[in-house]
Amino acid sequence: MTNSIVLGTGSYAPQRVLSNADLEKIVRTNNEWIVSRTGIRERRVAADHEATSDLAAAAGREALQFAGVKPDDVDMIIVCTVTGDSPTPSCASFVQAQLGAKNAFAFDVGAACAGSLFGLSIADQFIRSGKVKRALVIGAETLSRFVDWTNRETCVLFGDAAGAILLGASEEEGRGLLAASLRTDGSMTGILGIYGGGSRRPPSAEMLEEKAGKIKMRGREVYKVATRLLPEVVGDTLEAAGLTAADVDHVIAHQANKRIIESAMQNLGVPFEKCWINIDRYGNTSSASMPITLDEANRAGKLKKGDVIAMMAIGAGMTWGGAVLRW
Ligand SMILES: CC(C)(COP(=O)(O)OP(=O)(O)OC[C@H]1O[C@@H](n2cnc3c(N)ncnc32)[C@H](O)[C@@H]1OP(=O)(O)O)[C@@H](O)C(=O)NCCC(=O)NCCS
Repeated sequence: MTNSIVLGTGSYAPQRVLSNADLEKIVRTNNEWIVSRTGIRERRVAADHEATSDLAAAAGREALQFAGVKPDDVDMIIVCTVTGDSPTPSCASFVQAQLGAKNAFAFDVGAACAGSLFGLSIADQFIRSGKVKRALVIGAETLSRFVDWTNRETCVLFGDAAGAILLGASEEEGRGLLAASLRTDGSMTGILGIYGGGSRRPPSAEMLEEKAGKIKMRGREVYKVATRLLPEVVGDTLEAAGLTAADVDHVIAHQANKRIIESAMQNLGVPFEKCWINIDRYGNTSSASMPITLDEANRAGKLKKGDVIAMMAIGAGMTWGGAVLRW
């Protein structure tokens, strides 16, 4: 039976670092509050000339180089993003052109911070069905363009980055993506989102004035939902893969808040040390978060063949999910 295995990973973070001390000069906040509530110490901000597809292509290029795969040999590109270059064409089309991956069909997936998990699962289905041999899944965001820099409740949380995972078909028994669970509860659309700039509230001077194109969030509600749903979905996914929490060697988590991860790990019954943490350096980079985390763990040599990796992510929608991978 055909499975999808990870052939390579890559990431890209813009050069500009915005520290908590820098934010203290912009809004009424302080380093101690941000670190104790979220674990974030700094985040990256894209340069004026950089759009999401530029970040995405840089990360994608790294993943291809890591795997030693030529752009021509990629069959499918999925860019997971909620901050694409423009409403249309898709961010993935720009990325396909930048990579020169002329044989790949390309499209975007918008599942907010769970985007890369949804993208991985979609790519896996194409690979299992035999339609695709190599799929490049990229999570990329320039959230700095959609943050209200006068709102301390949100602007301290988010950052810009891109991460990429190249999946390939393999006949090796028991390796690769073993199970994935994707969930959505649309009754919670009101607790996190960017509500202006689309068909319900098209761009207008009034919309811009009201900052309706910026991220709105009811933080405490998001926190409660995330800590409840993440361990549940990972537990279900492990069960679907015929595994338990005791089998997990590493957790690759969407980095929204260190406390959310700590709580989820505790409820899951997996020691916190098994989770790769980089929220201190990047903040919440939405769909980029999981792929850059996997890339860091991979390049650090932490992932050994046969290791069980549990993945978890949650975001606006609310959309969330879990995946289990054998490296
Ligand atoms: C946002 C979050 C860190 C806030 O932490 P919290 O402990 O819930 O804090 P609260 O919202 O209750 O606010 C506590 C106080 O801190 C203040 N505060 C909010 N942001 C602040 C900031 N950046 N700096 C200093 N004070 C701040 C609030 O105004 C409030 O003040 P008050 O008590 O005088 O009203 C937390 O709710 C969270 O992480 N939620 C999930 C967010 C998330 O992950 N979103 C993305 C999901 S993909």
